[in-house]
Amino acid sequence: MTKAQLSIRHLLGIKEMSSSDINIIFQTADEFKDVINRPIKKVPSLRDVTIANLFFENSTRTRISFELAEKRLSADVVNFSASSSSVKKGETLLDTVMNILSMKVDMIVMRHPSPGAHHFLARKVDATIINAGDGTHEHPTQALLDAFSIRENFSTFKGLNVAIIGDIKHSRVALSNLFCLKKLGANVRLCGPSTLIPKHIEELGADVSFNVQETLEWADVANVLRIQLERQQSGYFPSLREYQMHFGISMSMLDKLREVPLIMHPGPMNRGLEISSSVADSDYSIILDQVENGVAVRMAVLYLLAGQRA
Ligand code: CP
Repeated sequence: MTKAQLSIRHLLGIKEMSSSDINIIFQTADEFKDVINRPIKKVPSLRDVTIANLFFENSTRTRISFELAEKRLSADVVNFSASSSSVKKGETLLDTVMNILSMKVDMIVMRHPSPGAHHFLARKVDATIINAGDGTHEHPTQALLDAFSIRENFSTFKGLNVAIIGDIKHSRVALSNLFCLKKLGANVRLCGPSTLIPKHIEELGADVSFNVQETLEWADVANVLRIQLERQQSGYFPSLREYQMHFGISMSMLDKLREVPLIMHPGPMNRGLEISSSVADSDYSIILDQVENGVAVRMAVLYLLAGQRA
């Protein structure tokens, strides 16, 4: 396995990465994708490394994907869930992490509701910090696996039209995807109700549209985001039914297009709301390929960052 050098020591966000870092991760993930499709899916690369997965928010895909990636690299793995920990007794994030690190843990994979929690930790501790989602800020490994999945379907990112559709305002996936795709040379359009698109987001290099049908016609790729039901108390749109009627991606919308874009969704999906089952389960969709690729991409991230520690 080749080990090129990344310019980063932690994976805090895509914003801090170079396009060269992203391409090194993709090339390494190509090799790990071959590994995990072999009968023996394991390599000894991280045999002497201990990784703690700290999840202060719920997760299915990211948590399992990181754990599988770590185990397939032969790392020692410990899992921490805030709901069953001493965080419930009032222990601070820094105390929690310092105590875990004193048990000789080398790398921390963390999901936390506070934007910037990972940047804070990276300044305070020696361990390698990997962001598995920080509030509404960034979800860098999701963006890397999304772009890796796009790369399997198109020969270049240069000039590729990628639409990100839905609840942009609350989405860490949207921001990380925007940073990642722009660094790779794609055109990015954000589409959704005006109330769910942050003001001035164009300054980060994206187009904005409130018209889904036009956006789908423009797009080579449509990444459909979850409506974050837990954050909708503020009346960002009149009703779920209304959202589904105007912004939900349905097969009747796709039937009107000259060419149907590649359909993606980071999960978890609200079937029948932001995406219909007929679209999610269609041949246009690569949703389960994204999940499969997540393991190879996370193996690449862990392997390369462990190499930076040497
Ligand atoms: N895509 C994603 O982050 O899913 P989970 O919340 O299940 O990890």
